[in-house]
Amino acid sequence: MNFTAPFQSITWNQNHLTIIDQTFLPEREVYIDLNTSGQVWEAIKKLRVRGAPAIGIAGAYGLCLGMEQLPDSSFQSFYRESERIAEYLNSSRPTAVNLSWALNRILTSIFAEKDRPVTQLKKVALETAITIHDEDRRLCKTIGENGLDLVSDNAQILTHCNTGGLATGEYGTAFSVILHAHQAGKLKKVWVDETRPLLQGARLTTWELQKAEIPFTLNIDSAAAFLMQQGKVDMVITGADRITRNGDTANKIGTYHLAVLANAHNIPFYVAAPYSTIDMELATGKEIVIEERDEDEVTHFGNKRTAPKKVDVYNPAFDITPHKLITAIITEKGIVRPDYEKNFKSLFS
Ligand code: MRU
Repeated sequence: MNFTAPFQSITWNQNHLTIIDQTFLPEREVYIDLNTSGQVWEAIKKLRVRGAPAIGIAGAYGLCLGMEQLPDSSFQSFYRESERIAEYLNSSRPTAVNLSWALNRILTSIFAEKDRPVTQLKKVALETAITIHDEDRRLCKTIGENGLDLVSDNAQILTHCNTGGLATGEYGTAFSVILHAHQAGKLKKVWVDETRPLLQGARLTTWELQKAEIPFTLNIDSAAAFLMQQGKVDMVITGADRITRNGDTANKIGTYHLAVLANAHNIPFYVAAPYSTIDMELATGKEIVIEERDEDEVTHFGNKRTAPKKVDVYNPAFDITPHKLITAIITEKGIVRPDYEKNFKSLFS
């Protein structure tokens, strides 16, 4: 595929991290430097960097920034303090498993080299963070190649939230399939759910689609059923924040609606994700912690209040799509179909 990334959402610059601050998009393309683990925690919490693989990558670099501040002491105290920083970074957002997965990978990499001096362990940690970042680019590209087989000619694809280069190292997950389908001449258009309440679809996916010159139409989330009824959707593809071993999938709130609707209209519903999003330690989606966010996101639109004061608000950031509603999961290893537990085990063992 012939694709030059029009931006890099996360860049490591010798001794600090630079990210696109996604809260300014699409009006302004603002890049900010993060120099401490505290700044990385804040950037993840406030969704300056967001999307499951991207917060894993940012968290990994954030842990390296935290380690850099630690004294060159014994391995035991360095490791204890590193674990403390990892726990702190992991507390920023609970649902996407990619964050704890990346933090644990860094800790494991230094534990494996525990006889080396702490100055060298800091280098080992950074090399691991860079590997996680590079690997995500490759995985996302392969996800797009694998997903291409599922796309019919002249396809209209509906997607939710943002799963592109902003949310990953590059290419994206569901977005990578869209990108590959477009380049292969198979795509008619993308239907972009605006993705209430934070509008990742309206603000970010449209921005990325415009940059990649891919045809799309933006729709409100609640238009999805009507679009399907009119025969305007051939397939739904979303990303994922955590997939349990039975295939249950946590993704942006509103994803479960789409899966139910797709099922009712006999439309295939696909999830695209790398192995770092699959949590084999959890048996079902019931065990996933769902982040609940500030009520202002629901009572206000932009800065304008749209609900009366003192209303009771429920604002889960994610929902769980039961595996029975998922036609297949597109990974870098190939297309995984039910029985998910059995097939994950044989693909990823
Ligand atoms: O709250 P967000 O914007 O971080 O939620 C992101 C999503 O739900 C994405 O769909 C998911 O992380 C897949 S990213 C490739």
